[in-house]
Order: sequence, then structure tokens, then C-alpha cells
Amino acid sequence: MRPNHIASLNRSILPLAALVGTMAGCAVADDPEPVRVQGQAIGKPPLTPKELLGKALFFDKQLSTPHGQACADCHAPSVGWTGPQPGINKRGAVYPGAVHYRFGNRKPPSAAYATPTPILHLDNGNFVGGSFWDGRATGMVLGSPVAEQAMGPFLNPVEQNNASAQVVCERVAASAYAALFIRVWGEGSLDCTPSQVDATYRLIAFSIAAFEGSAEVNAFTSKYDAYLGGRATLSEREMAGLALFQGKGKCASCHPAPLFTDFTYDNLGVPPNPDNPFYRMDDVYVDGAPINPQGAAWVDPGLGGFLAHQTFNPEWVALAPANLGKHKVPTLRNVDLRPGRGFAKAYTHNGFFKSLEEVVHFYNTRDVQSWPAPEVPSTVNTGELGNLGLTPGEERDIVAFLGTLSDGFR
Ligand code: HEC
Ligand code: HEC
Repeated sequence: MRPNHIASLNRSILPLAALVGTMAGCAVADDPEPVRVQGQAIGKPPLTPKELLGKALFFDKQLSTPHGQACADCHAPSVGWTGPQPGINKRGAVYPGAVHYRFGNRKPPSAAYATPTPILHLDNGNFVGGSFWDGRATGMVLGSPVAEQAMGPFLNPVEQNNASAQVVCERVAASAYAALFIRVWGEGSLDCTPSQVDATYRLIAFSIAAFEGSAEVNAFTSKYDAYLGGRATLSEREMAGLALFQGKGKCASCHPAPLFTDFTYDNLGVPPNPDNPFYRMDDVYVDGAPINPQGAAWVDPGLGGFLAHQTFNPEWVALAPANLGKHKVPTLRNVDLRPGRGFAKAYTHNGFFKSLEEVVHFYNTRDVQSWPAPEVPSTVNTGELGNLGLTPGEERDIVAFLGTLSDGFR
């Protein structure tokens, strides 16, 4: 990342902070009944009606074919809005879709703190923004990367697997929260007829984006936030970790507060994760074509793969090789949030790492100890990581600091 970029990014984040501030006090006075999804009350004020609608959609297991998979099944609040199954996290870290033998190719990133990502653009030769690990939900279609992202999973054969936007629309129209939809978007808005269904589908996506941008998902209630607000003190170890995070560890140059991402892309030299079931998807077919025609030879091309095939900007195609294997810098908020000690989580785009200790040890020693070869060697960042000279105690301090980024402290 480039230092000159931090200033412009922080400016783009300010409106979010302002928005979150106002939403916190915004109760929905005329909505006494809790919204129910599959019989469960799923939310109450202070969410706005639009955010509440987004929440209903996010948690609705009927919006998959076969029924049973909601967004929340791969982005659960209890683990920081990422994958909640320790058995999967320990191995391939990639989640099955509604059709249980079909797997995607990457680990679910957090769906929280993702909304402020700018529209994908070039800044001094570096890509910034977009949604997904590879930025392919650019934001150039709807003006919002996260809303564009939300149009993907319902129709993705390795995720919720619905045949069309019409199927999704009709299930929303038949749901318990259909009345809320109409209240939010207006009379006639829940129209699933062929000429209107695309517009309705976009409203579904914008509702989800509203929830993902809400104060519930972007809680800013970590110990770190309490410390900033003067309501908590960090332990000696956590304080030392914070200083290392900003200094010797160089972490803040790509993971700056308050969101702990600058929405740029990088190749850390993460090794492939051989347990990723995607390597075996060469004999699993969707519409006559294998999900992964390359089988075990597949290499995740990251941002470069998207740039090579996109049509948004023909000039970007030439930039594909330089961006091969680069992935979006993820937020570090909630990286350590888990239901209990010892609950397994997975880290980086392919879930190669199984603990924060391992991740930090990798940053510190990639170039001086023996690690498996990188998945994509050509673009590995050798300037900002690989040989940080941290002592084992300093590694532990950084891990302790990461633990202060879990929401729900107060
Ligand atoms: C089967 C598991 C699965 C389901 C179901 C699922 N996701 Fe995801 N989600 C993923 C994976 C895997 C990625 C990363 C894919 C990639 O980058 O190519 C992802 C990426 C995202 C991101 C991007 C975050 C970022 O910072 O770039 C958001 C936001 C998100 N999902 C929200 C949703 C929403 C909303 C739904 C429901 C409409 C949903 N997901 C359903 C697995 C899932
Ligand atoms: C040059 C930019 C850069 C620097 C410096 C950097 N990171 Fe990262 N970080 C990234 C990128 C990019 C990823 C995702 C890489 C991937 O998935 O292949 C990532 C991923 C992570 C993850 C995994 C998060 C998840 O949800 O999977 C953790 C934890 C992390 N970084 C912590 C740190 C710490 C701690 C430091 C300092 C010691 C640091 N990072 C320094 C760019 C950076």
C-alpha cells in the first residue's frame, strides 16, 4: 500500500462513522411486531425498516434451492460474520453450497465492515475498492460494491443455487416479511413479473447492503473502541501489540484503523491450501460444465484473474499479470471473535492459516524460515513483510492486540 493513500481513504470512511452514529439512536417507532423468519424473531429497533428487511433476507434459509442455506450460514455473527463451522475451518475452509457436494473456491471473508469499500479504481497504479477477495463486484453497475456483491450468492450454483432472480423474488413475495418490503420500498415494489423482476432483485440487494452497513453489523463495540473512548484500558501486552502493529510489524500500513483495511490488494505469498475441496471439483458439473475444469492444477488468480476477463475497462486487462494472486486486504475487526476458546477459525483467502499465531509468525518469518512455496510466486510482496525481526514475545503481543478487535466488549 502507499502512505499517500491513507489520507484519502480516511476521508471516505468518515461518512460511515457519521451514519453509524445517527443510526444508533434511530428506533422504528411504528413497527411494534418483531419480524419473523422461520418462526424466529430476528430483530428489533434500533435497526431502520430497510436494515431490518436486509436482516430478514440475510437470515432467510428459504432463499436457496434446495431450502436450507442463508447468507448467515457462511457469514455468522458469532464468528465475526464469516464461516461458523470449525470442522470446515480446520481443513479446506471453503463452504459447501445449498447443493452440499458443490464447493466454492475461497474462504468466506467477513461481511461486516465491508460496506465502505469504494468503487474499484486505480490510485497511483494500485487497485483500491470493490467487493470479494478479487474485487469483481466493482460497484460500477449499482454504485455500491456491496449491493452488487449481494446479487451474486442467491444465483451462484456453488452457493444458494436459485435458478433465477424470479425464483428469489417469488420467495421474498411469499415470505413473512413481504409486507415490510412493501413498506420500505413502496406499493407495487415487490413485483416479480418478467419486466420488473430485475428492478425488484436490485431492491433486495440494496436492502441487504443496508443491513450490512448497519450499526448491528458494524458495531464498533470492541475493547479497542472502548479504549479509544476512554472506557477501558489495554493490558501491557495489548498496548505493546498496538505499538508493534503500527510500528515494527508494519501491519497498519495495509490494515489502518478504524476499519483495519485500506481496501487495497496484495499477494502475501500465502501457500496453497491442499485441503481445499475445490481442487476436486473437476468431476462435479453444473449445466454440463465442470465447476473446476483445471482440477488439482488450479491456481487462484485473485485480482489479476478478474482484471484479465472484465469488460469494465479494457485498459485494465494489461494490468492483470502484475495483479495475479493479489487479494483484497481484509478487515481485522473480529478476527479473533469465536464462540469459545479453541474454536477453529481459518485465515486468508484460502484458509491456509488456522490461528492468528500462525499468521503473525508467517509475516515475521516467511523469508527466513522454511514455509511451503507461495500459491502465486510472481507478485509476492517482499518489501513490507517476510522478515520483520519480531521476537516470539512480540509476536504474542500482536496476537493479543488482535484480540482487542472483537465486538461485544461492552
Ligand atoms: C456457501 C457460502 C456462502 C454463502 C451462502 C454466502 N456467502 Fe458471501 N461469501 C462467501 C465466499 C466464499 C466469499 C468470497 C468469494 C470470493 O471472494 O470469490 C464471500 C464474499 C462475501 C462478501 C464480500 C466481503 C468483502 O469484503 O469483499 C460479502 C459482503 C458477502 N459475501 C455477503 C453475502 C451475502 C449478502 C450473502 C447472501 C445473499 C452471502 N454472502 C452468501 C461465502 C458465502
Ligand atoms: C502489504 C499489506 C499488508 C501488511 C503489511 C499486512 N497485511 Fe495482513 N493481510 C493483507 C492481505 C492482502 C491479506 C489477505 C491475503 C490473502 O488472503 O491472500 C491479509 C490478511 C491478514 C489476516 C487474515 C484475516 C482473515 O480474515 O483471513 C490477518 C489476521 C492479518 N492480515 C494480520 C496482519 C498483521 C498482524 C500484520 C502485521 C504483522 C499484517 N496483517 C500486515 C495485507 C497486509
